[in-house]
Amino acid sequence: MLEQLAELHKLCFPHRPWGADDFADLKKLGCEIVASENGFIVWRTICDEAEIITIGVHPAARGDGIATAMLGLMEHEIKKAGVKKIFLEVSAENAPAIALYKKCGFIQNGRRPKYYDGIDAVLMKKEI
Ligand SMILES: CC(C)(COP(=O)(O)OP(=O)(O)OC[C@H]1O[C@@H](n2cnc3c(N)ncnc32)[C@H](O)[C@@H]1OP(=O)(O)O)[C@@H](O)C(=O)NCCC(=O)NCCS
Repeated sequence: MLEQLAELHKLCFPHRPWGADDFADLKKLGCEIVASENGFIVWRTICDEAEIITIGVHPAARGDGIATAMLGLMEHEIKKAGVKKIFLEVSAENAPAIALYKKCGFIQNGRRPKYYDGIDAVLMKKEI
């Protein structure tokens, strides 16, 4: 399963693919992973806060609401566990992802200059 997830991650992030070992390490660190053949989301919860580690949808399955559904599922799960805030960081050049997060209720709450190989990271949060 983690091998298939790594293959899908490579399609979503061709310039910085994670291997099955990386996902195994994330699981060991206590991250939650929800994945199907079309998409994945990974998050980590600490007390009443959650951080989205990564999210991706197969290029052939984009635009059909899969990422929105995965974010909704995550929110449903973490709310039950008492989480109040969700945080994430995203490349300032990743317009589709920023639009997705805004549509799902996230707001920008900071910026890290040149965080990703010279490209700024946009920090976003959502209170749930
Ligand atoms: C970002 C990503 C996860 C979106 O997945 P998706 O399943 O296509 O997203 P959805 O269909 O749920 O789209 C929800 C909203 O996101 C925005 N959005 C999604 N793709 C977009 C695009 N190519 N351009 C602009 N906005 C986009 C829109 O606001 C969309 O709402 P709409 O359909 O009503 O216009 C997907 O493009 C992806 O896997 N990208 C590569 C990996 C990545 O960058 N992950 C994020 C890292 S922080």
